[in-house]
Amino acid sequence: MHYQNLQQELKASPKTWLITGVAGFIGSNLLETLLKLDQKVYGLDNFATGHQANLDEVKSLVTSEQWKNFQFVEGDIRDYATCLELTSSVDYVLHQAALGSVPRSIENPTVSNDVNISGFLNMLHASKEANVKSFTYAASSSTYGDHPALPKVEENIGNPLSPYAVTKYVNELYASVYARTYGFKSIGLRYFNVFGQRQDPNGAYAAVIPKWTASLMKKEDVYINGDGETSRDFCFIENTVQMNLLAATAKDEVKNEVYNVAVGDRTSLNELYSSITEALKANGIKIEKSPIYRDFRAGDVRHSQADISKAVNNLGYQPMYRIGQGIEKAIAWYIKNI
Ligand SMILES: NC(=O)c1ccc[n+]([C@@H]2O[C@H](COP(=O)([O-])OP(=O)(O)OC[C@H]3O[C@@H](n4cnc5c(N)ncnc54)[C@H](O)[C@@H]3O)[C@@H](O)[C@H]2O)c1
Repeated sequence: MHYQNLQQELKASPKTWLITGVAGFIGSNLLETLLKLDQKVYGLDNFATGHQANLDEVKSLVTSEQWKNFQFVEGDIRDYATCLELTSSVDYVLHQAALGSVPRSIENPTVSNDVNISGFLNMLHASKEANVKSFTYAASSSTYGDHPALPKVEENIGNPLSPYAVTKYVNELYASVYARTYGFKSIGLRYFNVFGQRQDPNGAYAAVIPKWTASLMKKEDVYINGDGETSRDFCFIENTVQMNLLAATAKDEVKNEVYNVAVGDRTSLNELYSSITEALKANGIKIEKSPIYRDFRAGDVRHSQADISKAVNNLGYQPMYRIGQGIEKAIAWYIKNI
């Protein structure tokens, strides 16, 4: 209800937004929603992992009038001047640009550090200097590290298990220091395995849902890391978009906080495999092979499930999609696009 009201308010009184990482999976979905709400949007991306095709698809889904409200800048968050220029004329910043993937960070920690920490600090500092109304950033459930408790509550974290997790935790530390030192309060969104349309199925660092879906469709082998009982709280993209809009427009009292962005469910990889194959079969796609089990992957957290009550209570978050509904929508998109 709160989200519906917010959407109506934004439509009636449009604002100006900056999305970093706008050509990526989450960034392009934020763009689509904001343009459909007649917002003015600046987008920044260097196409490190994002794609022009994502922007082209958004263009095809909005009206030409709405598309005119979007201005794209190809650039890098590691360049402070670019960050400052872009933040100078916006109300809200949604900072999504980063190098995702635990294995990528294990293979090349210095690049992940540069983008995810130095780039983040550039965006945070520029946003403070520009005195934007709010700065909302993509944090990560990887920050829970080896803390054994389930479900995950924001206050209790363990040791990070990968360089990627360190970078995302450092973001949170910087954000809280900026609140204490400069009175600049932001909100960190600890995403838990987001999935949905436009999530990249290609490349060595693809996430599990697009990777398996693409492999099954192309009749390639599917690998399950470990025994398949590793579990995650898979969160459909529309829930994540909702959280970004709620966070960006939140009251000051609920800022300088991090929030879990998830559903509160727990799904094992074996269960996930079944639901993807069932959804594909329902669309007439034959599954010809069984999955291949291999070693556990370094840096992976064993189980993950969020307690979402903080987001529900402070921000009025109401996840609209559980995993099954999200899988159906995502699979429909991959069938159309692969
Ligand atoms: N997808 C998930 O499940 C998940 C989970 C936890 C956190 N996150 C975080 O959410 C954010 C978005 O992730 P995503 O899944 O959309 O990934 P993505 O790779 O699709 O999007 C990231 C975007 O950032 C851009 N980018 C990378 N480096 C840049 C730089 N130096 N300058 C400008 N742009 C740059 C990329 O080109 C890409 O378009 C990231 O910060 C990621 O760490 C995602």
